[in-house]
Amino acid sequence: MVSFIKKIVDMFNGDEEKLSPSPKLPSSRASEKPKPRARSAAGRALQAAKDSGDYSAYWWCSECTSSDVAHPLEEIDDEWVFDELNKQIQNNQFPVIEISQNELQVIELLNNDDFDFAEVAYLINKSPAMAGEFIALVNSSVCGRGVRINDLRTALPRLGRDSVRAMLYLYSCKINASTSKELQAMATSIVNHSYATAIIASYLSQRYFHDPDTAFLAGLLHDVGKLGILTSISEYSELQIKTKEAPCEETFGRTFPEFHAVVGSFLAKKWNIDDLVISAIEHHHDFFECGFDIDEQEHYMLSALINLSDAIACILGKGRNYGEINIFDLVSTSELNIDLDEETLKFLDEIPAIIENNF
Ligand SMILES: [Fe+2]
Ligand SMILES: [Fe+2]
Repeated sequence: MVSFIKKIVDMFNGDEEKLSPSPKLPSSRASEKPKPRARSAAGRALQAAKDSGDYSAYWWCSECTSSDVAHPLEEIDDEWVFDELNKQIQNNQFPVIEISQNELQVIELLNNDDFDFAEVAYLINKSPAMAGEFIALVNSSVCGRGVRINDLRTALPRLGRDSVRAMLYLYSCKINASTSKELQAMATSIVNHSYATAIIASYLSQRYFHDPDTAFLAGLLHDVGKLGILTSISEYSELQIKTKEAPCEETFGRTFPEFHAVVGSFLAKKWNIDDLVISAIEHHHDFFECGFDIDEQEHYMLSALINLSDAIACILGKGRNYGEINIFDLVSTSELNIDLDEETLKFLDEIPAIIENNF
């Protein structure tokens, strides 16, 4: 995953491929006398919190100062953007993101029940940059199985049909959104946030969801609507983006908070994404009040998982400013039955290092 994320980031930034740092190995201390086992940092932190009754010093609590919050900039008429997008959505005319001919061929192939991965590999290999990303992904810490894979025909079956399709969609979104220079940084940030959310969702699934692959996929695509909105915004020739600072989500006022879930769901339906993943895209912010049916427990839990993973990614610097937050105050945390005990604390404490190692 390390090199995969780096490739994505570098691709957005137009940088050359960089080498990943060598993993740190534990040093041998065999000559030292055995010492009583020290309490872990997590254990010490928990004990200190218990003693003081204050749990707000952990990384999962984030404060927000007014200076951290970006405000809509005068140079951009954010209400105009909001109204234009609203019209498109209400009239069911939101533009479907264009997929290149080669990618479309791959997706069509993947939609056949009797598709052949060798054929898919042949088509993807026509685009060496995309082929490199698939190889990097399968060799990542999330998907890797200890043996380096350099052949797409071996790599693709390991990723599975759904992840290959999700990769193709994100790849297309990236190409479309990055046609405008001003919005390129925003697209990079959204893609980084999506990967971080996917990694966290997959990790949390070890304890809180039964299917890490679906969780990864939902994390990958949960904010794809934001890339759709960026693509749409970049098509407005009337919109002059002349700001001193690079535009961010807050620059466009209500547009991203109010539309990205519905646009993401619209795009995912057009792409025939799995219904469970679509519901997480649509409801990762309002799962507790949108009225899931009693038999949609799995949908509810996946949406809650993505909600929490999204918040954690933001707290760890991979996403927008979330404002003041303690994840143990979130509805999603309690709905997933995540209790504040030492075992849970240790499990959660792995997440910052996982994210750091993957970027
Ligand atoms: Fe979101
Ligand atoms: Fe998000």
